[in-house]
Amino acid sequence: MRDQIVAGNWKMNNDQNETQSLLNELKKYNKPEKIRIIVAPAFTQLSQSVDLLKDDIITVAAQNMNLAVSGAHTGEISVNMLKGVGVNLVVLGHSERRSLYHENNLTLAGKVNTALEAGMEIIFCFGEQLEERKSNRHFNVVKEQLSEALFSLSVAAWSQIILAYEPVWAIGTGETASPDQAQEMHAYIRSLIQEHYNENLAQKVSILYGGSVKPGNAEEIFSMQDVDGGLIGGASLNSDDFMAIVNAF
Ligand code: 13P
Repeated sequence: MRDQIVAGNWKMNNDQNETQSLLNELKKYNKPEKIRIIVAPAFTQLSQSVDLLKDDIITVAAQNMNLAVSGAHTGEISVNMLKGVGVNLVVLGHSERRSLYHENNLTLAGKVNTALEAGMEIIFCFGEQLEERKSNRHFNVVKEQLSEALFSLSVAAWSQIILAYEPVWAIGTGETASPDQAQEMHAYIRSLIQEHYNENLAQKVSILYGGSVKPGNAEEIFSMQDVDGGLIGGASLNSDDFMAIVNAF
């Protein structure tokens, strides 16, 4: 049985007070024990979030980290700084990092290694742009993203990897991939893992869908065989919406 996961990527939202209110609201809910629930606040709110959630099953992830472990990287945050505040999970490869901050598959392969060596778990994001889907290149794009960033890893390293397929055209647009489109891509991703590694690993890796998941569409998307949960942007900023999505399995 694969882990079922709902993760909230808060992006550059929620200051100290907003973080405190949202986490205090989330703490009040009864939570299904079988679902892993994760929130990814901004760097400046990580320590506060770990502290606030210490008696809760919700865990805290960072939204990014630097490739290097220390040194002359003004304005950057290292893996050990994350671990130092109790964060053992990091989101890497989000499309906004790729498009706005020029991260590519090779940079990401390096970041994945840095994170793995430090014993971190990774939510690895990837997905095609609208033109790539329109021109029927979406499978090839996803294959390249995974091959270049992840397929040199050992089988053992995959126990620290969660995949998040986020078609760029569905992020923050209100346009979700249909459950069939999500299922088709997730099954394809699993087939790639099977081809490069083995069936056992392909069946074990959790693959989340991200892109305009809301309380109204989560159940249908999560009911698909190869969809193991969601990476939620906008709807994770509201406690009722986020918990409705958690309860949509
Ligand atoms: P939205 O849910 O706002 O579309 O964002 C998805 C996302 O980018 C999660 O990482």
